[in-house]
Amino acid sequence: MESLLASARSWVKEHAGGQALHLLKTEEWLKRINPAASEAMLLAALTHDMERAFPGPDSPKQDPSRGPDDPLYLQAHSERSARIVGDFLHEQQAPPELTEEVMALIRVHEVGGWPAADWVQAADSLSFLEVNVQPFLNMMSNARTGWSPENVRAKFSWMYTRIRLPEARRWASPLYQQALERLQQQKDFFETGR
Ligand SMILES: [Fe+2]
Ligand SMILES: [Fe+2]
Repeated sequence: MESLLASARSWVKEHAGGQALHLLKTEEWLKRINPAASEAMLLAALTHDMERAFPGPDSPKQDPSRGPDDPLYLQAHSERSARIVGDFLHEQQAPPELTEEVMALIRVHEVGGWPAADWVQAADSLSFLEVNVQPFLNMMSNARTGWSPENVRAKFSWMYTRIRLPEARRWASPLYQQALERLQQQKDFFETGR
């Protein structure tokens, strides 16, 4: 079990650049909130956003003004990640059933759908609220990114409220409150600094 996860961790570190931390933390959170998580769940958590590491002509583009839960973007992003991770696992000679299960979990990583998928989705939200808040606040200070304070607030709220498992929400609640406070502080700073 460990060797496939170890190869996936190296793959993520090698290709995901600044997003590697979010992916590694998603695996960590999943272990913390569900020590019985399966290999498929851990692999999905670790690699769920990997399509962003391999930009191409078919890369989906997120338009912040369409809201954080734009179904067209989320589906294209999830499908593309599932395909890229499926190819990687195939190259690693992972058992086909395992590869299928990981791909199925990645296809629904934004929305969840059944217990294993809900755990992976919750771990993604927890990792986001732990390590992706600052990058979003940074984008907020650059008008050209399209991430206005309202769009960033909507993104933070969605990452919290989409969590389907009550026990995972309890873990996420303080991180979410902190994210909102930091957003408010940064907004106040810009408004009074002008
Ligand atoms: Fe994602
Ligand atoms: Fe993610």
